[in-house]
Amino acid sequence: MLDRLTLTNFKAFQHLELPLGPLTLLTGLNSSGKSSVLQALGLLHQSHAAGDLDRAGAGHVSGSGFLLNGELVGLGTGQDVLHEDFTGDEPAITLAVDEGPYRYSWTVAYEPEQNLLPLIDAELPATTEGTEGPAGDAAVIPSYFTAGFQYLHADRISPAEFYPRDHHAAIGRGFLGVRGEHTVNYLRHHARDEIPEGPLRHPRAESALLLDQAAAWMGELCPGVDLQAAAIEGTDSVRLSYGFGGALGTNHRRRPTNVGFGLTYALPIVVACLTTRPGSLVLLENPEAHLHPRAQTRMAGLAAAAAARGGQLIVETHSDHVLNGARLAVKSGALAPEDVLPHYFRGDGTGADVVSPRVDRDGLLDQWPEGFFDELENTLDQLLS
Ligand SMILES: Nc1ncnc2c1ncn2[C@@H]1O[C@H](COP(=O)(O)OP(=O)(O)OP(=O)(O)O)[C@@H](O)[C@H]1O
Ligand SMILES: [Mg+2]
Repeated sequence: MLDRLTLTNFKAFQHLELPLGPLTLLTGLNSSGKSSVLQALGLLHQSHAAGDLDRAGAGHVSGSGFLLNGELVGLGTGQDVLHEDFTGDEPAITLAVDEGPYRYSWTVAYEPEQNLLPLIDAELPATTEGTEGPAGDAAVIPSYFTAGFQYLHADRISPAEFYPRDHHAAIGRGFLGVRGEHTVNYLRHHARDEIPEGPLRHPRAESALLLDQAAAWMGELCPGVDLQAAAIEGTDSVRLSYGFGGALGTNHRRRPTNVGFGLTYALPIVVACLTTRPGSLVLLENPEAHLHPRAQTRMAGLAAAAAARGGQLIVETHSDHVLNGARLAVKSGALAPEDVLPHYFRGDGTGADVVSPRVDRDGLLDQWPEGFFDELENTLDQLLS
């Protein structure tokens, strides 16, 4: 599990050290740097996947650097990502992650027009001759580079008649796509995978199989719904359909375009949580999007279940219902209080300012900074005065 992310001279942050836990919530003002935190993790992941952080061992550097534009993030060029008021003698960007006792840190030089920023330094856990590093071999990398990984952006695919059937992403790598575009194909292919007994297995699903489990969790958001995902013969497409029971029975299917926006928009989040295994990292932007308040709370319950299963979730949210769902998960004993880390970003775009309330055993917070989900109270005060 990632315990900490440290950013130096990256986008809005001159310097930020952010503690991470099984369920980390990034909350706060618009443009305060929440997505940038997720982007930093995505940037490292895609740079590694492209081979650009490979073999950057302690004492020598031979990887090529940060790949700014790729499958996970498209950040532009050096001048877009270097913090405009950079700290240090030279303009350089450092991203570091801590996993348990191990720290991995990479520094790249500033090249204003380049989209591959060259690696100039790497501090990685030492592997001395005859002893193994944390990864168990000479390639010293954080385990999140190779464990299960999902990253869903705020801007996901909207309900459609057909979805792409990309074998490599959905089946080979089990990746749902940053817009959730491979979710339906993933569901089709993995429909009969079993969700193991434990916090993620929905007790009232028809079976332990992924498709029934996904339908049961979707039923938490929209009662009575069931799902089908089928390939369309002779095409590179898959089709999703919903059933709602009713007089025509479950054989009567409805297209995603005819069941409202929220269900299909939420499906990738539900599936991402269900794919979580011990060691997985799941980055979610705004899982609450297009859901009504109770469904938002339930969605947080699912994220908490994924964390209780042993995954790590970092969730950007504007929803007090998501925060409250996580607090309820603590109160119910599904997660320990120290497993939920809410951070409140209140930077104004010119600097980082993060406050981190702590959750206690009853799900209560030790502080409630001004502007931190206090709008309901503010409005009620005005209404009642
Ligand atoms: N090179 C840079 N130097 C300084 N600040 C930057 C740089 N690039 C981006 N920023 C700032 O970083 C912030 C990026 O915000 P980010 O997208 O992380 O916001 P967010 O908190 O996710 O917002 P939202 O809630 O709207 O999704 C913006 O305030 C932007 O002005
Ligand atoms: Mg954002």
